[in-house]
Amino acid sequence: MSKTVSLLLIAFAGVSALLVAGAASARRSHTAKKPKPVVISTRKVPKLGTVLVDGKGRTLYMFVPDKHRRVTCKGTCAVVWPPAELPPGAKIVTKGKAKASLTGSDRNPAGGRVVTYDHWPLYTYIADRKPGQAKGQALNLNGGLWYVLAPSGKVIRTKLRTTATAVAALTAKTGSAKGAFRGTLHGSGTGSGTLSWTLTYARLSSAVTSVQLRKGGKLVVRLSGSDRSGAHRTKSLRGAAFKAVAASKTTVSVATKRHPQGELTGALEVASPPAGPILVKVTPAAVARGKMVARTYSCTGCHTVDGTASTGPTWKGLAGSTVRLIGGGTTKATDSYLVDVITDPGRLRVAGFDPGVMQEAVPAGEVSNTDARALVAYIKSLG
Ligand code: HEC
Repeated sequence: MSKTVSLLLIAFAGVSALLVAGAASARRSHTAKKPKPVVISTRKVPKLGTVLVDGKGRTLYMFVPDKHRRVTCKGTCAVVWPPAELPPGAKIVTKGKAKASLTGSDRNPAGGRVVTYDHWPLYTYIADRKPGQAKGQALNLNGGLWYVLAPSGKVIRTKLRTTATAVAALTAKTGSAKGAFRGTLHGSGTGSGTLSWTLTYARLSSAVTSVQLRKGGKLVVRLSGSDRSGAHRTKSLRGAAFKAVAASKTTVSVATKRHPQGELTGALEVASPPAGPILVKVTPAAVARGKMVARTYSCTGCHTVDGTASTGPTWKGLAGSTVRLIGGGTTKATDSYLVDVITDPGRLRVAGFDPGVMQEAVPAGEVSNTDARALVAYIKSLG
C-alpha cells in the first residue's frame, strides 16, 4: 500500500566523460585476480523472521518485476538497490540456513553477473545502514515492490510499519562524481510528514561551493559548501510536507567552484510507509461532505449510487463487497482499498471496466486523504 512518487533530483557536480556505472565497473575490473567467494547467509530480522542476508549481514531483497527470472533493476534503480554482484570466477558460499542448491546467477544488464536465489536476483538497499535493518521491505520503489526472502526461497510479504525513506541515486551525465540522497519521512501513512535527509557525494572534480534543496522554485535549505566529497544532513525539514514535496519538484543541487551548472541528475523516489488498515466512520457530517466532494470531482458522472450501470462500477453495495479483478482474482472493498483506489486510481483493476479511465479524470494525488475518507463514508452509507 505504499505510494511512490517520482521526483526529479538534480545535483551539480564536476565533469569527466564517465558515467557512474562506467566508473564503478572500471574499478571492479582492476581488482585482484582471485575474487573472494560471495557469501549468502541468513539472519533473524524482527517481525520478518529468518531472511537472506549477504556476507556483511545486510538484508537481501527480491524485486517483483524481475519475475523470478532476470535482473531488471538497472541504472538509477541499481544504485538505490545495489545488486549482489558475482565477480568473474567467484564462488557462491552459503551459510546459516541458506541453501546452496537454490543459489545461482543471472546476467547483469550493467555487466557481470548477479547472485540469484531460487531464480530471484538479489539486491541490497542503500537505506539499510546496518545488519538487521530491512527498511526496503514491501516498499514500492524504482518501478516495483521489494521483499525479503526466507531460506526456503519463499517471498515474505509482511508489511512493516516503519518510517518511509526517500532515496535517490545521483548519476552523472558527464562527470565522475557519485552521490546519493537519502531521506526519511517521519509521519503518518497518509503521505504527509517531515522529511529529514542526507546528501552524500564524492569524487567531484572541484570543491563544493553550495548545496541547496529546492521545492519547486523555492529555496528550502542552503548549506555551506565543503570539499570534493561530503555529507549534508538536515535534522528535519520542517514545513516540507511530503505532499508539497510530491506536488512540486524537489531539487537538490550541489554547485562546485568549477561547475556552477550541473551534470548530476537522478530520480528521487519517496515512498510513504505502508499504512495500517483504515477505518472510516460513517457520520452524517462525513456523508454530507462526501456527497459534496463527489460533486466537486464529478465522480457521480461515472458512478451511480443506485445500482445502475455506468462508466464505472456503481457505488451501491460496493463497500465491503468482493470486487472481481482483471485476471481472475478478487479483493475485498475494505475502507483501505477504497481510500487507496480513490487517491491513486492507477492501481485499479476491476474486471469489466477499462483501467485508466478513472485515472485520467482523477489522477493520483488529486483527491486529498481527508476528502477520500469523506467519499468512503458516503459510499458506505449507500449500503
Ligand atoms: C471518467 C469516469 C470516472 C470518474 C470521473 C471517476 N471514476 Fe471511479 N472508476 C471509474 C472506472 C472506469 C472504474 C473502474 C476502473 C478500473 O478498474 O480500472 C472506477 C473505479 C472506482 C472505484 C473502485 C470500484 C470497485 O468496484 O472496486 C472507486 C471506489 C471509485 N472509482 C471512486 C471514484 C471517486 C470517489 C471518484 C471521484 C473522486 C471517481 N471514482 C471518479 C470511472 C470514473
